[in-house]
Amino acid sequence: MCGIIAILGKSAVATALVDALKRLEYRGYDSAGVATLEDGVLTRVRAEGKLRNLEARLAEHPLHGHVGIGHTRWATHGRPTEINAHPHATGRVAVVHNGIIENFRELRDALARDGAVFHTQTDTEVVALLVDHALERGLSPVEAVCETLPRLKGAFALAFLFAGEEDLLIGARQGAPLAIGFGDGENYLGSDALALAPFTDRIAYLEDGDWAVLSRSAVTVYDAGNREVTRPVSLIPAGTLLADKGNYSHFMAKEIHEQPEVVGRTVAHYVDLATGTVRLPEEVAIDFAAIDRLAIAACGTAYYAGIIAKYWFEQLARLPVEIDVASEFRYREPPLTGRGLALFISQSGETADTLASLRYAKAAGWPALAVVNVATSTIARESDVVAPTLAGPEIGVASTKAFTCQLAVLLALAIHAGRVRGVLSAQEEQELVDALVGVPSHMTKVLARETQVEQVARDLAKARDVLYLGRGLSYALALEGALKLKELSYIHAEGYAAGELKHGPIALIDEAMPVIVLAPRDKVFEKTVSNVQEVAARGGRIILIGDAHAAGEAGLAGETAVVMPEVHPAVVPLLYALPVQLLSYHTARVMGKDVDQPRNLAKSVTVE
Ligand code: F6R
Repeated sequence: MCGIIAILGKSAVATALVDALKRLEYRGYDSAGVATLEDGVLTRVRAEGKLRNLEARLAEHPLHGHVGIGHTRWATHGRPTEINAHPHATGRVAVVHNGIIENFRELRDALARDGAVFHTQTDTEVVALLVDHALERGLSPVEAVCETLPRLKGAFALAFLFAGEEDLLIGARQGAPLAIGFGDGENYLGSDALALAPFTDRIAYLEDGDWAVLSRSAVTVYDAGNREVTRPVSLIPAGTLLADKGNYSHFMAKEIHEQPEVVGRTVAHYVDLATGTVRLPEEVAIDFAAIDRLAIAACGTAYYAGIIAKYWFEQLARLPVEIDVASEFRYREPPLTGRGLALFISQSGETADTLASLRYAKAAGWPALAVVNVATSTIARESDVVAPTLAGPEIGVASTKAFTCQLAVLLALAIHAGRVRGVLSAQEEQELVDALVGVPSHMTKVLARETQVEQVARDLAKARDVLYLGRGLSYALALEGALKLKELSYIHAEGYAAGELKHGPIALIDEAMPVIVLAPRDKVFEKTVSNVQEVAARGGRIILIGDAHAAGEAGLAGETAVVMPEVHPAVVPLLYALPVQLLSYHTARVMGKDVDQPRNLAKSVTVE
């Protein structure tokens, strides 16, 4: 959840540390800090809030050290204050940390009994103190870290810097990602390859339990049993990782507009455009005819993609599907018996609850399939089969292009499953594939109507509460619309299955409550229309998203806020996702909110 960078450089590293932190800000941004050795002395500069505050501090107090560590934080233990910002340090050691030390209270009590004084509310400080006490007893830095790591419980990544040690960094990984970058006469540690991209394209990922000792000329990796091990070094070209906003004012806008391209690329990866059939890449080897059950687990927007996939797999392949948010799945101990397949969906591939669910399913003996955007992520590496989404790096905190790429992959898989399970005829497969292949060009048309959405957003920005309604495949999209709106604009929004309205939420309807209705022309269109009329009859303000005739048929001529193309009902979620994303984007923008970095959120949720 936080971002870590560490550099053993040939010249002053502070600027490079901050630049790397900028690329890691998607992991958290409520405070940041760096530490370097100034003539052998550990010296820190930290600041509450965004990285620009840290840069301002560094302008006042420049650091000149050639070795250093940096951190951008998403608070777990302790408020996001400067005192709680990383690095945490004693006179002998400084540490940056991502994740949670689960037994920190126990460790803190033990340290307190030995007379330790705590200056922060963080779990990280115990790590600094444990290492410091070992150093005080005369252990070397390597021995001190080696002694401390087995005492820590939880999922974390750590990087250490030591007073007087100009040619030493130590990193450790237990459940949270940490990569080593190999440079020329320089070496690095970082939370991901994106942070390291400007420095080097030679990257090795630590495995769980690994710890690494770095100098400028050598890197030694040890496993949890302190045996020296080799981890493969991959060449990861910077061009595949670096991201910038291009001509857009926000990453989110850029990523929304990239969808025709990245969804097209993803679709092309799974279908044979020439024959109009699904052709899974060789590595996506799943026998859907051999299974009788699918269990899906994911979080947030990826979970909503999972709900849509449930409808697809059940309708197109007659495959029974159960779905959970991953934080429930991992603890409810679902009996995974019979011939099942577990499916995990994640943009980052690092979401702690999704990863734990994957491990649960594998331990129960079910094969794990992951639909993942970050190909080098832990979820991708631990799954039996990876079906990649080719969305490219998603930097905006709110998931947009990753979501529609997930939908593209999931629909391709469901069509394939339908075919091999004998549910879909060749003709039906072709119709569905044609509809999927046609999505990118329809997306371009929808994006061209952005000004319609902007107008609605100006009105929506004045609302205190908003209801989102949808049925069938649009139900999960209503949930997604409400999530997007609340996370970006902080307007309270609820997504409901349209048929549920009269079972409670209808009581909320008055003139002040905008009700956004997703009304594609599908088999439940008539039912949705009746729900729209129920809202209209009670004076509700309806914002209809449907095709050109939807408003007329709903008795609301002229009230369609966003006119959508008529498409095959199966691909509706891929297209209707766009006005849903644009509505939340423009509402937040009109309200002056920080669209790319909404408060309290982080892009990669590596804590549970
Ligand atoms: C919302 C959003 C989150 C993520 C969720 C899962 O816009 O982005 O709800 O979808 O945190 O993240 P991943 O897909 O990385 O597992």
